[in-house]
Amino acid sequence: MSNTWSPQSWQAKLMAQQIVYTDREAVERAVRKLRSLPPLVTSWEIERLRNEIAEAQAGRRFILQGGDCAETLADCTPEAITSKLKILLQMSLVLIHGLKRPVTRIGRIAGQYAKPRSNPTEKGVFQGQETELPSYFGDLVNEAPFTPEARQPNPHLMVRGYQHAAMTLNFIRSLVDAGFADLHHPEYWDLSFFEHADLSPQRKAQYEQMTRTLADGLRFMEALGERTIEDMTRVEFFTSHEGLNLLYESAQTRQVPRRAGYYDLTTHLPWIGERTRAIDGAHVEFFRGIENPVGVKIGPNTTPDEVLALLDVLNPDNRPGRIVLITRMGETSVARALPPLLERVQAEGKKVLWMCDPMHGNGIKTASGIKTRNFDAIAHELELSIEAHEAAGTILGGVHFELTGEDVTECIGGAAGIGESDLSLNYASLCDPRLNYQQALELAFILASRLSPG
Ligand code: PEP
Ligand code: CO
Repeated sequence: MSNTWSPQSWQAKLMAQQIVYTDREAVERAVRKLRSLPPLVTSWEIERLRNEIAEAQAGRRFILQGGDCAETLADCTPEAITSKLKILLQMSLVLIHGLKRPVTRIGRIAGQYAKPRSNPTEKGVFQGQETELPSYFGDLVNEAPFTPEARQPNPHLMVRGYQHAAMTLNFIRSLVDAGFADLHHPEYWDLSFFEHADLSPQRKAQYEQMTRTLADGLRFMEALGERTIEDMTRVEFFTSHEGLNLLYESAQTRQVPRRAGYYDLTTHLPWIGERTRAIDGAHVEFFRGIENPVGVKIGPNTTPDEVLALLDVLNPDNRPGRIVLITRMGETSVARALPPLLERVQAEGKKVLWMCDPMHGNGIKTASGIKTRNFDAIAHELELSIEAHEAAGTILGGVHFELTGEDVTECIGGAAGIGESDLSLNYASLCDPRLNYQQALELAFILASRLSPG
């Protein structure tokens, strides 16, 4: 691999998931525009996140990352943003209380607009004719409706994506600044689903107990006067997205005054997807040169040698806080696939944050062809991952979920008992199925009780 890196050196490499734009001039116009616009995040925030990741790596903090599979431009509404922020903050309070550790919240938000696809094209019916069109690659690239116009990759969508990310961030920053009043009293959270008959009496008692102690704990902290809930929830909120579209990422990658190196200023934590992490590919080339912490998705067929090669290229100095390995093995593969990676990375003394994504290895299709995930499989992969870390002596420092604060019906299972026949009630995802409010909160309770120091 050549050592001369620049924000554009990825252009000479082979690119997985390449986006085929036809209008080169329009691409140049969009990139020029993005280069001229202010950054979405700052290097100060990125450095702070890197420190927090380093703390989590050492077991002194925990990272909660979550949000939509595919964020859409239409989702840029106060309700959608507020409810996503709220569920992540509520989950983080449950985790802080259970783990007795500070928790860093990172949204898949304000830029999670580009999606890798298994096939570059898709067959469907357009104007009564069987037609093959480009797949939908997310609102940063093309539009979801099955028409030739909508599916044509449109470079201007990069500018529109930037604008919507900026509006989303602007609102998040104000909300976080103001504090979230309705977080103060967990007894007012929407926990009525815990009453559901499907929940075993032990589970129900356990959740009630946790809610009570959480409420007491929060009041106690407030009563001590050291830190109010406002303080706790006014803490920073970071953003992340898959850095799939390198034109977009590199256009906002720059040097900043009084710091060495280049920062990708579209987001705090960009990640490389399972399908774009080829060691000699364009994505790894781009990501090796930026200062941000970088996530890498690791699936069940990854070998220990591959992980080490990635670490050597992406973090040659073994800097703490730089790498987040997001394992997404699947319930049935995790016990086989994860331990060899943990052992080898540990044996080589490589500094990484291990994060579990129990979503992406657990996709299933119902008999009628609906994409879903089973809550029990998700919880089980989480449990098996925790066991693997315990056995290897490594630290699970974070979790990565696809979730929404809304009452969608996309994943089956959980205490509220969503069944296959309920999926059509409110299935809103344009991509992978997400946990809804109740399922997400329940998972936080499960995690908090499992990782509680006692
Ligand atoms: C995702 O996080 O939405 C995704 C596509 O993940 P992966 O790269 O792990 O398949
Ligand atoms: Co997804």
